[in-house]
Amino acid sequence: MSQTNNMSSDTLSIQHSARQVAIEVITNILLQQGSLSTQLARHQLEVASEHIPLLKELCFGVCRQYPKLNSIALHLLAHPFEEKDTDLYATLLLGLYQLTYMNTPDHAAVNETVEACRLLKKDWATKLMNAVLRRYQREVDEIEEELEAMPSVEYNQPKWFVKRLNKHWPDQLEEIIEASNTHPPMCIRVNESRVSRETYKSQLLEKGIKATEGAFSSSALYLRNAVRVTELPNFEEGFVSVQDEAAQLSANILSPKAGDKVLDACAAPGGKTGHLLEKAEGLVLTAVELEPWRMEKIESNLERLGYSATLICADAGELDTWWDGEHFDKILLDVPCSATGVIRRNPDIKINRKPADIDELVLIQREILNSVWTTLKSGGFMLYATCSLMPEENEQQITHFLANQQDASEVPLNTLSEESALEWGIPVSHGRQLFPNLEGHDGFYYCLLKKIPA
Ligand SMILES: C[S@@+](CC[C@H](N)C(=O)[O-])C[C@H]1O[C@@H](n2cnc3c(N)ncnc32)[C@H](O)[C@@H]1O
Repeated sequence: MSQTNNMSSDTLSIQHSARQVAIEVITNILLQQGSLSTQLARHQLEVASEHIPLLKELCFGVCRQYPKLNSIALHLLAHPFEEKDTDLYATLLLGLYQLTYMNTPDHAAVNETVEACRLLKKDWATKLMNAVLRRYQREVDEIEEELEAMPSVEYNQPKWFVKRLNKHWPDQLEEIIEASNTHPPMCIRVNESRVSRETYKSQLLEKGIKATEGAFSSSALYLRNAVRVTELPNFEEGFVSVQDEAAQLSANILSPKAGDKVLDACAAPGGKTGHLLEKAEGLVLTAVELEPWRMEKIESNLERLGYSATLICADAGELDTWWDGEHFDKILLDVPCSATGVIRRNPDIKINRKPADIDELVLIQREILNSVWTTLKSGGFMLYATCSLMPEENEQQITHFLANQQDASEVPLNTLSEESALEWGIPVSHGRQLFPNLEGHDGFYYCLLKKIPA
């Protein structure tokens, strides 16, 4: 899109309004040109720092409410916009979001949306935009009544997702939808090698930050209200990290010991890498990550925590590009997945993710799993993990693996650690499935495998 590109090239000299940049971010997401987090990281410098919270509110808000907003927009438009006018569609979604969910006075929301068409140099659309939004204002009650029975509107989730949840998790469907539509709590991981959870909780309280202990991870604290990381005592010194409680179970289950040779095979941004290193002094840890820009995140995370590891930027499945032939004692394989257990943190999934992606991801996961298994020593352990709710990526993936890998066997998830009481999630045919919880952890899946002599 020419306008989008122009906006990017102007950024050095001009600061744009939060709305203009939000249009660009949402347009790029609609055009499948990257995730919300990458788009925001790239574009937030284009607005004045005091407007970054508004930019985030607009972008996260449109993604969170997308199934509803999209249904309303399509209902209002006689013809959908052409692909070259995706920026106008993004503008309309933002206008509807402001009218429905923000305190912006209605006339200001309409005027700003119309003005945005001019800034996009698409004056021809101003009349249309004005008419569509004014009609929405007039007919909002009738439109909502007409659309309320649509699954995407009723659940505010993509239709395919609701359908699959209904098929796989009918008993948990309501709970999953409610948690996936709510802001996640802020959960932190206390670095227990530096400070106990109790002591850190007291330090937080001294600063007026109230926290409660997570029930499943000994290092987890849930903050009553989210704060900036800079407000967390000794954050820069590596005493604490932001990490969901379900994600914290990885290192607890794998329970590495001093001297273990450990592989973190899909490692960025390095949340679990850091936790593994906190668990035991003297780990010999290798972290492999495909994306160079995500690799940088592992580097900065480990630097803050004060740990070092061998970092390799490679496709974990292509062993000849990175593996030296030395087998690992323990492997964490946190594969790329549909992220359907963490929609509340990545609401752009509501826009971007398609059912066909899951079939593709299953094949990618299978390839990585089969290759990386080779690098595990006999008697060693591999923890397979996803933040997905889809059985195809989880228990079914493991069923297929075990059927084809004679030297693999599933072992209980508390085999390596006394602290894994296994009260979290539910047991499934292989491993355990966690569902996103309103005031608790995200959706996750874990299965622990042991290499036995074939
Ligand atoms: C679920 S995320 C891992 C999260 C990470 N374990 C953490 O806790 O911070 C999956 C990661 O795998 C990376 N990835 C995808 N395909 C890969 C491959 N073939 N080899 C290595 N890494 C890969 C992605 O770029 C992404 O950073």
